[in-house]
Amino acid sequence: MRATPIVPVALVVGALLGWGSGTGLARRADPPAAEGLPGKALFAQYCAACHGAEGRGDGPSAASLPIKPWNLTEARVLGHLPDEFIRLTITKGGAAVGLSPLMPAWEAYLGQEQVADLVAYIRSLAGPRQEPREVFAGPIDPPGAPVQPILFSHLIHAGAFQISCQYCHADARRSQYAGLPSVERCMGCHKIVAAAGNPEVQKLQGYWQRREPIPWVRIYKVPEFVYFQHRGHIRAGVACQTCHGQIQQLMRVPAIEGPNRVNDLLNLVGLTPAPAPLSMGWCVECHRATNRAHGIDQPSVSAGTAAPLDCVTCHH
Ligand code: HEC
Ligand code: HEC
Ligand code: HEC
Ligand code: HEC
Ligand code: HEC
Ligand code: HEC
Repeated sequence: MRATPIVPVALVVGALLGWGSGTGLARRADPPAAEGLPGKALFAQYCAACHGAEGRGDGPSAASLPIKPWNLTEARVLGHLPDEFIRLTITKGGAAVGLSPLMPAWEAYLGQEQVADLVAYIRSLAGPRQEPREVFAGPIDPPGAPVQPILFSHLIHAGAFQISCQYCHADARRSQYAGLPSVERCMGCHKIVAAAGNPEVQKLQGYWQRREPIPWVRIYKVPEFVYFQHRGHIRAGVACQTCHGQIQQLMRVPAIEGPNRVNDLLNLVGLTPAPAPLSMGWCVECHRATNRAHGIDQPSVSAGTAAPLDCVTCHH
């Protein structure tokens, strides 16, 4: 009997999210292109004991672990993992990315090139179909993020496991605030998922047992004299990412997304750089663009789909 750990996790998450049973298990459609890669031998030597000869998370040493490695041949999970996440996990160990410390750190044993070979090999295990390299360009842990009470990774939840933003931020479409998930909502999965073997998940269970809310540090905030509602924006079809960036690729959420190279380039060629997120210019510029797109020149609050430009709608 061989356990394939990703199956129960995918099924549990899938069941909780109401995924159709047909999509609960990703089929390995293409033959792996992994054979010729130099990472293969390294993987067999250092990793297969836990991760299994084929990377399915079923190595002999994983049998007794409370938390199993994922099935790396599962395209639906691997396809959303940036190279940087895989590299960090290998060099610094699971704990550095919020995963279990049962995944050891290898930087003392493996050189940069060997790690790069392993990343390429792991990438190839789910088959050649996805080409995620160009999608995932930025750092997964940009500077400027506050230390949260639990290392909660959007990359793992909204990225790898594709949990939708509004499953957790459920108030966004109906109220001013997007809201944060309750401890109950987290525990809906974590009574089963990673229930043992990960200290970060154990912190979550601690809040649950003590019946305490998690004191998350607030990141995005406009001043008190500004009136901002999520509801209108979500209903108008503005994607979360338009305002918050590629959150599903981040291990930690920072309010300001590091030095903006695009802005530097625009400055060089004499163009005005885009205003910083959350500034008044940022709101107003998007509202202007929205109105132009709707052919509205004199927008007002009562102009239906118009994004307001009059002072009182944003400043009561
Ligand atoms: C002692 C057992 C063990 C060894 C040896 C090991 N790992 Fe892991 N690894 C784990 C466990 C357990 C996890 C799952 C952690 C979690 O989900 O919280 C993991 C997770 C990972 C992940 C993140 C995705 C996933 O499967 O959860 C990557 C990538 C990874 N390991 C790569 C490697 C590589 C490359 C090697 C060899 C250099 C290696 N591991 C060796 C136990 C091991
Ligand atoms: C729909 C199911 C689901 C919900 C809801 C959920 N999680 Fe997770 N969570 C997962 C899965 C799947 C993993 C990956 C487990 C693994 O294999 O290591 C995970 C991993 C984690 C981890 C370890 C990796 C990381 O992110 O650092 C933490 C900590 C965690 N969850 C905390 C939370 C918190 C806090 C909440 C509520 C705000 C929450 N989870 C809600 C499914 C869920
Ligand atoms: C499993 C639950 C879960 C999912 C799914 C999820 N989030 Fe979150 N989100 C959280 C938690 C918990 C926090 C607070 C901790 C933190 O900031 O990382 C948070 C914080 C945030 C913040 C910062 C809030 C602040 O304080 O200003 C933003 C913005 C955000 N999420 C956007 C998103 C977007 C966009 C998506 C979809 C791509 C998403 N979230 C998916 C649970 C989730
Ligand atoms: C039009 C831009 C915009 C869009 C679109 C947007 N947000 Fe926000 N978000 C903001 C601003 C501005 C704030 C700060 C608001 C404040 O201080 O009251 C914020 C704050 C937040 C917060 C923390 C405070 C709160 O409201 O709970 C979370 C979480 C969040 N957003 C998640 C999301 C998610 C999830 C989506 C998509 C469903 C989304 N946002 C879409 C601009 C946006
Ligand atoms: C990415 C584009 C974008 C950004 C950035 C943006 N908005 Fe909007 N906003 C819109 C659109 C589109 C509408 C029109 C909604 C509709 O059609 O009803 C809107 C409508 C509004 C409304 C009127 C409807 C309501 O929700 O009450 C207010 C007020 C508003 N925005 C405030 C703000 C503030 C304050 C900011 C900056 C903190 C901001 N917006 C940033 C796109 C944006
Ligand atoms: C679409 C929304 C929006 C509209 C319309 C808008 N503002 Fe603002 N305003 C903001 C936001 C957001 C801030 C906060 C910027 C910050 O924190 O840097 C702000 C800040 C300000 C400030 C404080 C500036 C500072 O440096 O602290 C003043 C004064 C102001 N607005 C006046 C106005 C006037 C006058 C109008 C009408 C001509 C107007 N605003 C229209 C969103 C808006």
